[in-house]
Amino acid sequence: MDKYITLLKEKLDNKRFLHSLGVAETAQELAIKNEVDPELAYLSGILHDYGKNISCENLIKIAENNKLITDEIEKKNPFLLHGPVGAYLLEKELGIKNREVLEAVRYHTTGKPNLGKLGLIIYIADLIEPNRRLTGIETIRKLAYQDLYKGVLTGINYTLVHVIEQNQPIHSLSIDARNWLLDIIN
Ligand SMILES: [Fe+2]
Ligand SMILES: [Fe+2]
Repeated sequence: MDKYITLLKEKLDNKRFLHSLGVAETAQELAIKNEVDPELAYLSGILHDYGKNISCENLIKIAENNKLITDEIEKKNPFLLHGPVGAYLLEKELGIKNREVLEAVRYHTTGKPNLGKLGLIIYIADLIEPNRRLTGIETIRKLAYQDLYKGVLTGINYTLVHVIEQNQPIHSLSIDARNWLLDIIN
């Protein structure tokens, strides 16, 4: 674990590194509550923004070359690609093989239908970790600790409202993830 922490500390700026530590700790707590391996959750939190400091041009280039594009809006909003590209590079550069970890990193920005528990944990931990000072996040934080699925649904709702207010396009995977969660919760 320590080697990954050191590596990400070097790779990310300080704010982003502290955010990753916050995600790791939050993910570890949520993992214990949801019968997920807490160490894998911590590791995924540390690694989730591995693709974050890659330029937009390179994100698009790597994604196109490796068929990682799932929605054309990713080309106009390349930050959406730091998940898929990050997961791809974690496997290629660091030899991370664990499918759940790679899935969690890959879909931490958009979510996806049938996302595994570790993926759900990283999605919501990314939003609610203690360094995040977003308005209205406290309710989502409480809910996520009570019920992971309801927490993630509320987290997706929160993110989509923000995306709509900014007049940004919605990623199709987020819509599908939301519909899937609505289905299993109700
Ligand atoms: Fe991210
Ligand atoms: Fe993040």
